[in-house]
Order: sequence, then structure tokens, then C-alpha cells
Amino acid sequence: MTDAVEYLTAKRTVDDRALNRRVWDRFVAALDATARRTDRPLRIVEVGTGVGSMIARLADWETLSGTVSYRAVDVDETCIAAARDRLPEWLAAAGYETETTADGVIVATDATTTARFEIVLEVADARSIVDEADAVIAAAFLDIVDPDRTLRAIRGMLREGGFLYAPCTFDGATHFSPAHPSDDRIERLYHRHMDELRDRPGSSRAAREVLERAPEHGYDVDAVGSGDWVVRPRDGTYPHAEGRFLDHLLETIDGALADYPADVLDPAVRAAWIDARRDQRSRGELRLVSHHLDLLARVRPDE
Ligand SMILES: C[S@@+](CC[C@H](N)C(=O)[O-])C[C@H]1O[C@@H](n2cnc3c(N)ncnc32)[C@H](O)[C@@H]1O
Repeated sequence: MTDAVEYLTAKRTVDDRALNRRVWDRFVAALDATARRTDRPLRIVEVGTGVGSMIARLADWETLSGTVSYRAVDVDETCIAAARDRLPEWLAAAGYETETTADGVIVATDATTTARFEIVLEVADARSIVDEADAVIAAAFLDIVDPDRTLRAIRGMLREGGFLYAPCTFDGATHFSPAHPSDDRIERLYHRHMDELRDRPGSSRAAREVLERAPEHGYDVDAVGSGDWVVRPRDGTYPHAEGRFLDHLLETIDGALADYPADVLDPAVRAAWIDARRDQRSRGELRLVSHHLDLLARVRPDE
């Protein structure tokens, strides 16, 4: 069994490769332009922050000017606890000096520039928080929530002209290789489970739905591009913890398929597919391509 913290930690390097750098660069340029226009700290809210990978990535990849006031929210307290635990080390690895204040704010300062993060980690439901942010980050999030309700809620958290960066939003393709005769059927049923069966919101076509509906919710889409997960072995082993990432994904798919009655999916067909995939994973032969879109949208000024 993998847990959410292990899965999200293993996902970081998969996302590092997947993120669409054109959309990322537009996002960072927008952050930078906002920071230069104002003398107050840049305000970022991240919804569904998980273990804090995006904060570590921003610190590691970019040098933002001035202070970033970063509010990172997740409904799962084990994720927030893991973020609190790991971020100081990840930020130190990115060249920051860090300290945690008595009230739990992680302050990270880059000694060579003016860059400084003040990070508040918070257990909360993202759909009910109030803020006035310059940017909201929702990574791998819009596909597990109700898109209309969440787009509305995020718009309410943003200042006029503020922007939403939503990378890693699932867009309806989960391909494993080598090919297996049951692949098409398994993929169809796995995606149908996201759309119709599971007892929580989300959609297998979330990214295209968000793209379509963003204008109705007062956003202009600035940039969009593919951010596909590609996981493959090198010389029979998976880099970093990506083998565990595959284990978790296979477990999720198996759990979804188990919800179908036998007249829809014969348990023997499911077992044969999952056993074959687990064998390939343990031999270091399994590969994955999963299609996502990265989106950057800006709140349209009131007319
Ligand atoms: C797929 S994970 C993505 C985590 C992180 N953004 C990343 O890409 O590594 C989705 C996260 O959203 C959190 N989540 C789900 N519903 C939420 C809600 N309504 N409010 C806040 N967090 C939520 C989950 O606990 C989980 O950590």
C-alpha cells in the first residue's frame, strides 16, 4: 500500500519533467511583473498543495524578486504535516536559509538576492477560503473537484488582474505499454469511474472542461499546453521514487475497477490486466503516458 504522502512525494520528479515550460515561463513572468508593479509582498495562494512540491519547485527553479507571501492550503492534515516537515530541507537545498517562527510560518531567505518566502501551511477546504491573492496555484487539483464551483471560488480569492495557474490537469488519456489486449477497455472503465461512479467529484475530461468554461467564470485564458506524465525505466529501474508512483497509480486503477459488477467487468479480466502490469513494473518494463494540460488564466477586469 502506498499512501498519499508517499505518492505525492514520488510525483514531484514526474511533474518536474511534465510541466509545460512555455506555460510555466508565462506564469513566472506574470508573477515577476506583478511583483515589480507593487511594493507590497506578492500574494500566492495554493489550493490542494499536497506535500508542498510546488513551493520547493518555485524556490528551486526561479528567483522571484522581493517577498512572496505564500498561503498553502490542503484539506488533508497528513499532507500539511508532511509539507511542514519537509519544506525546510527542500528550501535549504534550493539555497535558502530557513527558520520556522513560533506561529508556524516558514520564512526562507535567499542570502544572495532579495528573494524571500513567508509560507503559511493551512488545513482547510480550498472552496471556502477568503483571500485577495495575486495568483492562485491549483496543481493536479481541478480534475478532482467540481470545476464550476472551484473556478468560482478561486475567482473570489483573486484580485482584479490576478491569475490562476493550473498545471497537471488531467485530460482523458492513460496509456501503459507494452500493449495489453484489455488496455482500451480498462482505460475506458477507469475514466468512466472518475466521471460517473466514484463518490467524489472530478472528471476525466477536466482540463478541456476548464478551458471551455473559464470565460463564463470571468477568466481570460493566457496560455495552455500539454503537461504529460511520462514514466519509463532506465536500465530496468525507475528514477527517483517513480516506481512507487506507478504502484500507487496501479492501486488506484485497481480500486476503481473493483467497483464494477462482474457483468460489466469480469474480475478475472481485471486480475489478469493488473497482475500483468504489476509484473512489468517489478521487472522494470512498464511505461506510462498520461495526458494533462497546464493552464494559465487571468481574471478579466469588470466591464
Ligand atoms: C492530486 S493531489 C495534488 C497535490 C499537489 N498539488 C501536487 O501536485 O503534488 C490533490 C490534493 O488536493 C487536496 N484536496 C482535495 N480536495 C481539496 C479541497 N476541497 N480543499 C483543499 N485541498 C483539497 C488533496 O488532499 C491532495 O493533497
